[in-house]
Amino acid sequence: MRIHILGSAAGGGFPQWNCNYKNSKGVREGTLHAKPRTQSSIAVSTDNEHWVLFNTSPDIRAQLLSFPDIQPARTLRDTGISAIIFVDSQIDHTTGLLMLREGMPLNVYCTDMVYQDLTTGFPIFNMLTHWNGGVNRHTVPIDEQSFTIPEINHLRFTAIALSSKAPPYSPHRDQPHLGDNIGVYIEDLQTQKSVFYAPGLGAIEAHVLPYLQKTDCVLVDGTFWHEDELIHTGVATKRAREIGHLPQSGEDGMIAFLDTLSKPRKILIHINNTNPILIEDSAERAELTAHHIEVAEDGMDIIL
Ligand code: MLT
Ligand code: MN
Repeated sequence: MRIHILGSAAGGGFPQWNCNYKNSKGVREGTLHAKPRTQSSIAVSTDNEHWVLFNTSPDIRAQLLSFPDIQPARTLRDTGISAIIFVDSQIDHTTGLLMLREGMPLNVYCTDMVYQDLTTGFPIFNMLTHWNGGVNRHTVPIDEQSFTIPEINHLRFTAIALSSKAPPYSPHRDQPHLGDNIGVYIEDLQTQKSVFYAPGLGAIEAHVLPYLQKTDCVLVDGTFWHEDELIHTGVATKRAREIGHLPQSGEDGMIAFLDTLSKPRKILIHINNTNPILIEDSAERAELTAHHIEVAEDGMDIIL
């Protein structure tokens, strides 16, 4: 399978439009050794023609333009997007669906909790019914039953419910439910290779561990370096775990956990614009490299 990284940044992207913290300011002014990144999305295929898009970011138009392989140009109006899977209902993962309205109906796979958010607090599914009926919605099971997707040959998907928090506009914001947030284990039944994708992973829960241990590639939450990064950079007041992201540093952080895995290739994705790992000559990036952990960037391909 081919995994193409369309967007490797967290919400806001890098640089963030209104941010003058040294990371965003430095990349904007060209004074930092760092690459700009768009918001969180990947595309997966086994034939380079039929793609599963994970998340539709606010940057989707530029992301699709940057990736000609996702436009097979078979008919007057066409797309290589056979299906879309949402891992949550956050703005950075869903807003781009509105930019795809000309191509409705599209097949959208999401959990019941994400469906609830996208038909109530952030009712983009309702709005899109005015474009050729809107989305063809398919339910993602959260009991770890695998599913397949028409046109996506040889791939099998398993959603793993992750404990996290629904977005601020969710009617159940303060009552977390299973299915607010998922990780997806994707297996290529031809090559027998797999990837575990979870851009939001707030804790290493017992039921998630077997997937992380058996997979060939973990493509997981790289949002923050520090638990209190938003606070000490002065940009916000929430802690990393509080908003569902396990920070890299610390005794029980992501690096310490990834060190316990011997099999997979380890790649961080969904990097927030405050994270020092964005700076390629930083001490934090060197620490990741020493632990054999990579940092995803836009345009990167992972072949498994
Ligand atoms: C998150 O994953 O916490 C989001 O990136 C937050 C946001 O986009 O507002
Ligand atoms: Mn996000």
